[in-house]
Amino acid sequence: MSRRLRRWILLAPVVFVVLATLGAIAAHHDAQKGPDAQPLPGLGLGRLAAARGILLGTALDDGALQHEPGYRHVLGTEFDAITPENAMKWDAVEPKQGELHWDAADRAVDFAGRHRLKVRGHTLVWYSQLPGWLADGGFKAPALRRLMTDHITTEMRRYRGRVRTWDVVNEAMADGGGLRPGLWLDTLGPSYIAEAFAAARKADPDARLALNEIGADGSGPKADTLLKVVRELKRRGLIDEVGFQAHFNLNGVPPSMAQNLRRFSDLGVDVAITEADVSVKDPGTPEQLKVQAEVYGDLVRVCRSVPRCRALTVWGFTDRHSWIPSSSPGYGSATLLDDELKPKPAYAAFQAALRAP
Ligand code: XIL
Repeated sequence: MSRRLRRWILLAPVVFVVLATLGAIAAHHDAQKGPDAQPLPGLGLGRLAAARGILLGTALDDGALQHEPGYRHVLGTEFDAITPENAMKWDAVEPKQGELHWDAADRAVDFAGRHRLKVRGHTLVWYSQLPGWLADGGFKAPALRRLMTDHITTEMRRYRGRVRTWDVVNEAMADGGGLRPGLWLDTLGPSYIAEAFAAARKADPDARLALNEIGADGSGPKADTLLKVVRELKRRGLIDEVGFQAHFNLNGVPPSMAQNLRRFSDLGVDVAITEADVSVKDPGTPEQLKVQAEVYGDLVRVCRSVPRCRALTVWGFTDRHSWIPSSSPGYGSATLLDDELKPKPAYAAFQAALRAP
C-alpha cells in the first residue's frame, strides 16, 4: 500500500466526522430558519384593513425576525404596523441599572423603517417585566419618580420620529375597579399615571400617547375606572388613544365591547385593539377552529362599528410564535396562521370581515 493511500485510509474517519457535523449544523440551521411563507389568498390583510381606515399590526417576535425568512415575508406582506412584543420593556432595555441594551428594539424599529411599517412602542410604565434592581430596589418616591421619567425620556427620545404611538402606561386598572396595586401605585400614588403621560408629552411632542388595558374590553368596573382616568387625561391634553388588548378565548368577544369602546370614542380619543388573540384548548379541533374564526370576525366587526377604532393589532400572527402556550399551559392555536404559516379558518374570517360592505 502506498504511503498516500494509507494516509487517506487513516484520515477517512476524521473526514467523515467533519462532514457529518457540518451536515448536522446545516440541518439545525434549516430547522431554525422556520417554514417557508405559504401563498396567502388575496391582497394582504393590511391593505384590506387600510381601505377601512384601520391600521393593521402584529406583535413582533425578535427571534423570528432574526432567523425566519418566511416569518419576515408574511410580516412584510400582511401587516402595516408592528408592536415589539418584549424588546422595549424595561427588563429588556435596562437589565442592570444604567446598562442599556437597545439591540432588539433597534432591530424592530430598523426593520419597520425599511418596510414602511408603523411602530407601536410597548411599553414604558408597567407593573410587570421590570428588572429586579428596580422592582426590588426599595426606591422611595422621589428617586422612583426620577427613574420613571428618565426612562420615559430616554426611550422615547431614542425613537423620536420612528415610533408613532407609545403605550405609556400599561395595565394600570384593577380587575374589580380602581387602580391596580404594584410598584408605581404603591410608591407614587395615583398621580403616577398623569406624571408618566406628562413626561411622555415632553419627551416627544409628536408621538401619540396611549393607555393600554387588559380585560377592560367589555363594560364593567374595570372599564368604568379606565373611562374616568382617560377622561381626566384627555381634559389635560395628555392622551390620544386607549388600547384594548382583546386577549380572548372561545367564550368570544364580550357582547358589550362595541358599546364600551364607543364610550371612549365619544370622549374624542382614538380607540385601538392592541393585542388580539383567541386561545383554544389543546388540541384544537376543526369545530373549535371554526368558533375561533367567528371570534376573530366579530372582533373586526366591533372595530369597524366604533367611529374612532383606527388600529387593530394581533398578538402574533402564527401559532409558531404566540405567548399563549407558555402563559396558559394546555392552550394554544391562538393566532390566524398555524405553525407552518398556513392560514387557519380564522384568517379567512378575518379577511371576510374586513371585505364585507
Ligand atoms: C407578553 C409576551 O407576549 C410574552 O412573550 C412575555 O413573556 C410576557 O408578556 N399584556 C401585555 C403584553 O401588555 O406585553 C404581554 O406580552 C401580554 C399581556
